[in-house]
Amino acid sequence: MVDNSLSSASITNNLETRFIGQRVIYYPSLTSTMEVAKREAQQGAAEGTIIIADEQTAGKGRMKRLWLSPRGSIALSVILYPDVAYLPSLVMLASLAVVHSIEAVTSLEAQVKWPNDVLIRGKKVCGILVESELRRDIVNYAIVGIGVNVNLRLADFPEILPIATSLSDELGREVSRLELIRRLLVEIERLYLALPAGGSIYEEWRDKLVTLGRRVSVNWGITSYEGIAESVASDGSLLLRHSDGSLTKIMAGDITLRD
Ligand code: BTN
Repeated sequence: MVDNSLSSASITNNLETRFIGQRVIYYPSLTSTMEVAKREAQQGAAEGTIIIADEQTAGKGRMKRLWLSPRGSIALSVILYPDVAYLPSLVMLASLAVVHSIEAVTSLEAQVKWPNDVLIRGKKVCGILVESELRRDIVNYAIVGIGVNVNLRLADFPEILPIATSLSDELGREVSRLELIRRLLVEIERLYLALPAGGSIYEEWRDKLVTLGRRVSVNWGITSYEGIAESVASDGSLLLRHSDGSLTKIMAGDITLRD
């Protein structure tokens, strides 16, 4: 049986990072790690501070949706102060860090669905939410929120069962959240420090996308688009080719794979 308890000390002890996860604020239960991270960032928390909860009672998803994060999942937010030029890369960086950590700890193959869902065998195992505050061209803070379904029986959550999975359901055994979190923090720092070198994060993210070349529909508010997901730009936007040959650049939205 895997020990699934978490504490600030167990996460930070001998953690091989310079700053990501060197300060951990842990809660057994919390409304949302995003809220606390925002407050901490506004008070000037050190870069790399993470807020983590065993359970969130009002987890935030993209598009103002609720994110289910019961005990057994990972819910954490990382506080960053990047240059404005790197803001679009945070989503790519976070999804790659999750993919690498899942593959390293479980050997399961993970993929990315544009813009920032991590999938295993076509089902969502992780959601990522990036929130930031800017003053002109200066980033006051950016918060990367990561939710991973680790040790959950999806059969207990019929509302998401058709579209979601968990690591334990995929493997038929529990996974150490502590090992996954520590690996994730190392990966986030490695990729974050690599940002000034350019190119490679975007290229690896693009190559991990299950979306490209597929017929998709994309919903953004009341607008809906259909076409072939042709490519992604380095700012993270999706290039959608329509049947009349025209191309739309889509900055955000919810995508459904049609074939
Ligand atoms: C999505 O809609 O796919 C994004 C989900 C993001 C969930 C994470 S869990 C940790 C952090 N705290 C939150 O309230 N949301 C993010």
